[in-house]
Formats: sequence, structure tokens, C-alpha cells
Amino acid sequence: MFSDRNSDIDHETIELLENAQDRIRQKKNVYKHFIVYLFISGFFLFIDFFLAVGQNILIFNYSWSIWVLLIWTFILLYHLFDVFISKKIINNKWILNQKSHLIKLQQEKIKSLKKDIETESKIYADSNSNNSNQLVTIIVAASENNIIGDNNKLIWHLSKDLIRFKNLTKGHHVIMGRKTFESMPKALPNRTNVIITRNKNYVAENIIVVNSLENALKVCKDDPQPFIIGGGEIYKIGLDYANRIELTRVHQSFEGDTAFPEIDEEVWKEVNKIEMFDIENHDYNFSFITYDKFN
Ligand SMILES: NC(=O)c1ccc[n+]([C@@H]2O[C@H](COP(=O)([O-])OP(=O)(O)OC[C@H]3O[C@@H](n4cnc5c(N)ncnc54)[C@H](OP(=O)(O)O)[C@@H]3O)[C@@H](O)[C@H]2O)c1
Repeated sequence: MFSDRNSDIDHETIELLENAQDRIRQKKNVYKHFIVYLFISGFFLFIDFFLAVGQNILIFNYSWSIWVLLIWTFILLYHLFDVFISKKIINNKWILNQKSHLIKLQQEKIKSLKKDIETESKIYADSNSNNSNQLVTIIVAASENNIIGDNNKLIWHLSKDLIRFKNLTKGHHVIMGRKTFESMPKALPNRTNVIITRNKNYVAENIIVVNSLENALKVCKDDPQPFIIGGGEIYKIGLDYANRIELTRVHQSFEGDTAFPEIDEEVWKEVNKIEMFDIENHDYNFSFITYDKFN
């Protein structure tokens, strides 16, 4: 990928250099032309008017040397015009275009390099470290009919659930899809925010951007408990990688456009349940249920 860009830049740089060399050559030539013109025309005038060579050759009443000088003056003027006016206009424009094109390419390259270095160093720096004890945890709040969101927003507000989310994920990596990230005002504080997107140029403050869940998990290699925090698309692929689900089951059915997949009881076993019924300032009953993967 970068070698392609490098060859683009080299090509453009060589073109710029060649163009500058051409300009110098053109100016040198016009200067030489002017000197030769001065000498030869002086010589012709001298032999015509002082030595009287070919004085009887008249064209429209003018001597031959005047005609030679006149024609040559036109040629010289054309040469000057070509080098200092037409070529200059074309070249200035061309150079400006090339310059801005080069600057754009360089800026894109620097941006992309910075991003790649940040991600790749996280992914590969500690590739030998052992993560067999890692507890990859999905954390989700879902209704009785598995709805988790609508129109890129959460449906309910349960402050006890938010406090639990905060306490569980604090200090850990939180992995999320680009849409979930954009549904929040900014990156979650006190956590390492890892955002999954197919957009290679995605940038935002205080996040690590990756292009797959596998790479997100590599970024979290040293975290004993990274959390997959949504949304629907990422939960769907996350179930294969997770060992635990921390589910807040909201005991109500809702309409929405995003759902959590059905929990397969052949794979997931309930290991803990805390019922949160009739809690003050909470609109719905809910339960904190922990599932561990046994297959
Ligand atoms: N109730 C809860 O616990 C909970 C938690 C979190 C979110 N939510 C809700 O869930 C909804 C958002 O979920 P969602 O399913 O629409 O979106 P999402 O899963 O948050 O993000 C989807 C985006 O992730 C990226 N992506 C998905 N799969 C990918 C792959 N295999 N490789 C690379 N990138 C991939 C794509 O980003 P690009 O398009 O940029 O490529 C895709 O558009 C919202 O309503 C939110 O409120 C609910």
C-alpha cells in the first residue's frame, strides 16, 4: 500500500525536478540566442554599411542586412515570448497543481502512517504474551424480546444498570462498533475505547480504531477482561469470541431496530442472577444475569 504511494510521490518529485531543469535550459538558450543575435547583427551592419559588402542588393529599397535583422528580430521576439510568457504561464500553473497534489499525498500518507503505527504497535508489540486466562465479556442490556436499541439510541434509562456497567468496565478495554461509538457524546472515560469500523481513515479523539473484532481483541491482549459493549452487529460476531455475558434483562417488551441474538442455552449457562424489582426511580423491573460459556 505504502510502496504504491511512495512511487507516486517519487514520480511527481522527479517530474518537478525535470521541469525546473527544463526551465533553466530554456532560459540559457534564449540568453545565448540574444548574444549571438547581437554579435551577428552588429557584424552584418558593419560589413554592409562600413565595408559596403553587397550594397547594391536592395529589397523594397532596404539593404539586405536590414531585412536579415528584421526577420531575425521577429524570431528572437517569438523565442522570448515563448520562454517568458507562454511557457511561464503554463509552468506556473502546472507547478502549483503539482505542489498541492504532493502536499495532499504527503498529508494523507502521514495520517495513515500514524494510524497504522498506533494500531499495529498495539497488535504486534506483545504478540507472545499469554492470554489463555482472558475473560472476554459481552455486556448488554436487552428487553424480554431481545431489543437493545432503536434509531441508534438506547430505549430505557436505568441508572443502577449504568452504575453496574461503569463499575464492571472501569479500567478495561471496551470494544464497540462504529455506530455505538457515534451514539455517545465522546469516548468513555477511564477505559480504553476500541472502535471497529471498515473505514480505514476513521479518526476520533481518545480511541483506537481497528478493522475487525479479531484485531480489537489483539489490541486488548494484556487486559484480563476486555468488554464487548455493542451494538447489534458486534454482539452477533462477538458471541463466538466471548466467554462470559453480563446481561441486564429488562422485564418488558419493546419495539426497536436493533436486537441481541437469542442466547443458546446449549452453549451458555446461567451462573448468577440478581433481581432488581421495584427499584425506586426505575421505570422497569430488571435482572442482572451472568452467563458463562461451557462449550
Ligand atoms: N442495550 C445495549 O446494551 C446496547 C449497547 C450498545 C449499543 N446499543 C444500541 O445498538 C445500536 C447500534 O448497533 P448497530 O448494530 O446498529 O451498530 P454497531 O454494532 O454499534 O456498529 C456497526 C458498525 O460496526 C462496524 N462493523 C460491524 N461489523 C464489522 C466487521 N465485521 N468488520 C469491521 N467493521 C464492522 C461497521 O462500521 P462502519 O460502517 O464504520 O464500517 C458497522 O456499521 C444503537 O441503537 C445502540 O444504542 C445497545
